[in-house]
Amino acid sequence: MNFQSSTSQISNAEWLKRLSIVECRDSTYRPRTDPIVFKKALGSKIWDSEGKQYYDLCAGFGALPLGHNSEALRYVCEGHLQNERPPIDHAMGDVYPSEEKIIFLETLRSALPSHLTKGCVALSGGQSVEIAVKTAVLFTKNTGFIVFDDGYHGLDLGILPLTARQDFRMPFKDWLPETSVIRLPLNCDQSIVSQAIDVLNSKSCGFAGILVEPVQGRAGIKTANIEWLKSLAGLTKQHQAVLIFDEVFTGFGRIGSITTASQIDVDLVCFGKAIGGGFPISACFGRESVMNAWPESTGEALHTGTFFGHPFAAHVGRLTVEAILKQGLAQRSLVLGEEVRQVLRNKLSSSEYVVDVRGVGLMIGIEFNKPGFAAQLMDLARPLGVIVLPSGSTGSVLSLTPALNISEAELYEALNILCSLVIAF
Ligand SMILES: Cc1ncc(COP(=O)(O)O)c(C=O)c1O
Repeated sequence: MNFQSSTSQISNAEWLKRLSIVECRDSTYRPRTDPIVFKKALGSKIWDSEGKQYYDLCAGFGALPLGHNSEALRYVCEGHLQNERPPIDHAMGDVYPSEEKIIFLETLRSALPSHLTKGCVALSGGQSVEIAVKTAVLFTKNTGFIVFDDGYHGLDLGILPLTARQDFRMPFKDWLPETSVIRLPLNCDQSIVSQAIDVLNSKSCGFAGILVEPVQGRAGIKTANIEWLKSLAGLTKQHQAVLIFDEVFTGFGRIGSITTASQIDVDLVCFGKAIGGGFPISACFGRESVMNAWPESTGEALHTGTFFGHPFAAHVGRLTVEAILKQGLAQRSLVLGEEVRQVLRNKLSSSEYVVDVRGVGLMIGIEFNKPGFAAQLMDLARPLGVIVLPSGSTGSVLSLTPALNISEAELYEALNILCSLVIAF
């Protein structure tokens, strides 16, 4: 059989029209001006259906630490093409393992602090948080959680109560057990956290744990204080509950470290995005005593999915993680990110709209004093050939999360375009 690739010369607008016919209307953003449909990509460049080139300063929401079509991905694809007996392409989730799933877990474990010894794989960031939450419930036999304002942990139903944005939760509120979740300000006083623990403990739900992002991404790049995170670890330990770091966005290089858990004695850490190198694989790693709250497998795991530990994704992910480690991309992210923030502060100092340039490593936020301004800039930067995203609950923060290996030339060219756009306002 001859398979044919799908396309010829169809405009971006025509593609979007076709999409609007077949896809639920809430699924994909369809800009009113300068429509775009992605067609090809390499490194930190993307080309649309009309052949126009863009600098990608988002790297697939941070899921492409080595950029598009990385050497890791090409290596795995070639292995599948050239081999007379190609590598296994599906290994039956929780029933039979593939070699690649095992090596993937070993590779993650070897990069993590020594107390995080046992992991579980899933497909998405949200699913790794689901695993952490289920683990905390099994371990503590409680269901009450403390989370933080503006936190984002995914939109799957089980974890939706833990995500802050009201607009995501409200349509489904009758389904959600909101009563066992207390939301507090990020970096709030320890006494406020203690009071919230007492409130949960006074209810039937009890206190299961605290879930926090070391740097909040979708919230608009807001950083949790390290000493404060340490105090959360102290409180959860004192109450025999569980501290969970959601490092789906921050983990494996984005904020200049492999994990914030190397500085803090955390019980469970969720990873996604970067560890798949663009493919859907995620993992929750934890302390053995906590992860052993799960029973031995009897052939049907309590928590699994058809594609969990997918061997192709595990292979691309493992090579991606190895490249991040070997190429020192976490350190590069730390140094380059700081340099970029300094450059942005200088270039944007004359703008009356910029109130802050912040972040850690290559997780950079530019905050504006007008709600919706970053969302507007996203639409204006697109025709100029730069892909960026707004963040924050009012769309007032521009998020930059480029590939960790983006060349300085490409990065600064894209930033120059962006800065000229902001200054022109
Ligand atoms: C901190 C954090 N947790 C969880 C998620 C959800 O990940 P996914 O969209 O892969 O389910 C995200 C996604 O942006 C995230 O930033």
